[in-house]
Amino acid sequence: MQITYHGHSCVQIVTKGKSLLIDPFLRGNPIAVTKPEDIQTDYILLTHAHTDHILDAEPIARANDATVVATFELAMYMSSRKQLKTIDMNIGGTVDLGFAKAKMIQAFHSSGIFLEEGQIIYGGMPAGYIIQAEGLTILHAGDTALFSDMKMIGDRHPIDIAFLPIGDHYTMGPDDALQAAEWFGAKLVIPVHYNSFPLIRQNAQDFVRRLEVQGQQGRVLAPGEKFEITKEK
Ligand code: NI
Ligand code: MN
Repeated sequence: MQITYHGHSCVQIVTKGKSLLIDPFLRGNPIAVTKPEDIQTDYILLTHAHTDHILDAEPIARANDATVVATFELAMYMSSRKQLKTIDMNIGGTVDLGFAKAKMIQAFHSSGIFLEEGQIIYGGMPAGYIIQAEGLTILHAGDTALFSDMKMIGDRHPIDIAFLPIGDHYTMGPDDALQAAEWFGAKLVIPVHYNSFPLIRQNAQDFVRRLEVQGQQGRVLAPGEKFEITKEK
């Protein structure tokens, strides 16, 4: 399995010759190195409707004939307003994409769709995903505050990699993300949703050092950086 971090919350997983892309935000991210036209993917998974998670979903979906996976309300917006192929689902449910399974989990945040006219419409509940493929379990927390059911989720899922927001201001900051990492019980924690804007500036290396102090492994990925991982036998 190949995992690429495209900056902000955008993560791409390639397995068995298929790709899923989570929360594409490239054109609007000054520290992204990937362009929407560089992306090849079969599915686009959206955690919630905020612009910094869906900005490039439309051009990438159109160019790749990719299917957008999202909560019912956001999926309906993407199909009726943007004429994209969608799979609508909701929190607690799992969809089988053939090469991977994606379970939608709770996130504690908001999820309005900001229209160009300046209006905000209801975009469903915010979410995270647990992706299972090749025997590996990868959690993408979406945008979220710390909440105690992270412990329940961690107890019920053997999480190999967790992508956790550390930016603070709109999501958990490093202190709460350290607690989230412990509750999720992730073997490897990768910080996301920081440094894209001054408001969410954080020291990710320091976060990883603090993870190690509490006995967990972390890894800082630069935008555009990728790595391979296989299930340990
Ligand atoms: Ni958000
Ligand atoms: Mn966000």
